[in-house]
Amino acid sequence: MSSKEEKSEDQNQSSWKDFIYNPRSGEFMGRTASSWALIFLFYLVFYGFLAGMFTLTMWVMLQTLDDYTPRYRDRVANPGLVIRPKSMDIVFNRTDPAMYSQYVRPLEAFLQQYNDTEQEKNELCVSGEYFDQDNEPEKKVCQFKRSTLRQCSGLSDPSFGYAEGKPCVLVKMNRIIGLKPRGDPYINCTAKREGTLQMQYFPAEGRFDKMYFPYYGKKAHPSYVQPLVAVKLLLAKEDYNAELSVECKIEGTDLRNNDDRDKFLGRVAFRVKVME
Ligand SMILES: *[C@@H]1O[C@H](CO)[C@@H](O)[C@H](O)[C@H]1NC(C)=O
Ligand SMILES: *[C@@H]1O[C@H](CO)[C@@H](O)[C@H](O)[C@H]1NC(C)=O
Ligand SMILES: *[C@@H]1O[C@H](CO)[C@@H](O)[C@H](O)[C@H]1NC(C)=O
Repeated sequence: MSSKEEKSEDQNQSSWKDFIYNPRSGEFMGRTASSWALIFLFYLVFYGFLAGMFTLTMWVMLQTLDDYTPRYRDRVANPGLVIRPKSMDIVFNRTDPAMYSQYVRPLEAFLQQYNDTEQEKNELCVSGEYFDQDNEPEKKVCQFKRSTLRQCSGLSDPSFGYAEGKPCVLVKMNRIIGLKPRGDPYINCTAKREGTLQMQYFPAEGRFDKMYFPYYGKKAHPSYVQPLVAVKLLLAKEDYNAELSVECKIEGTDLRNNDDRDKFLGRVAFRVKVME
């Protein structure tokens, strides 16, 4: 019984060895060298063909893209609003510069590109009119000087009002290529509190001038700067040490500002808490 088992094991082993390499027929893994070569050749041609197809379709697709305008865009362009400093909770102690510097430093850095000396290199455009340059190869940029933000420019008051407890917030619209807002867009901010909170807007009435539109895209319009509206919250003593919700909306135009699903479309909300 045991010798029978041994014999079959022996046979098994030799057939296994034969399968790896059979010296009689010269077969390797059940195939001759030329058969293996044909298989390799087949797969080489097959995958080469697939790679070629992929490259060709990719190339054709890329040919249809335009460097200057995105191919797919929203049917109706509606920009979101964002604020600087980039925080939804502005909390600071007005007597503690170390605490509000986290808001003041980014504001100063952000406004570098709006330096008057930088902006004087740009065009002086006609206020209240779109600056259409569809047929110009080189798109020009309209000046937006930071000095027009007055008390919120950081020039006369380097703390942007944070030291006096009347902080400035900058509101800007996200860039949308080709957007031409109708009417006279302006920013209107409201605070949730008893009575209205006094605010100052720069430029006057929080207006976005039409001359900053349309925008032609990063490649065509590289040194474009977005118009800004600065809002100075004139907080009074009774507003200190309490959280205040503020919402800013774009108004006076056809842009949407009350979408239920997207709460940043044409509006932005943030909280402010000033301690002393
Ligand atoms: C912008 O102006 C400020 C103050 O006038 C100056 O300190 C800063 O270096 C200027 N930055 C640029 C980029 O010109
Ligand atoms: C700003 O919004 C408030 C609340 O919606 C409204 O009462 C006020 O009239 C608006 N102000 C302007 C100038 O549109
Ligand atoms: C704000 O800072 C001042 C001085 O550093 C301190 O006396 C005061 O208690 C601080 N207020 C709060 C609410 O932390």
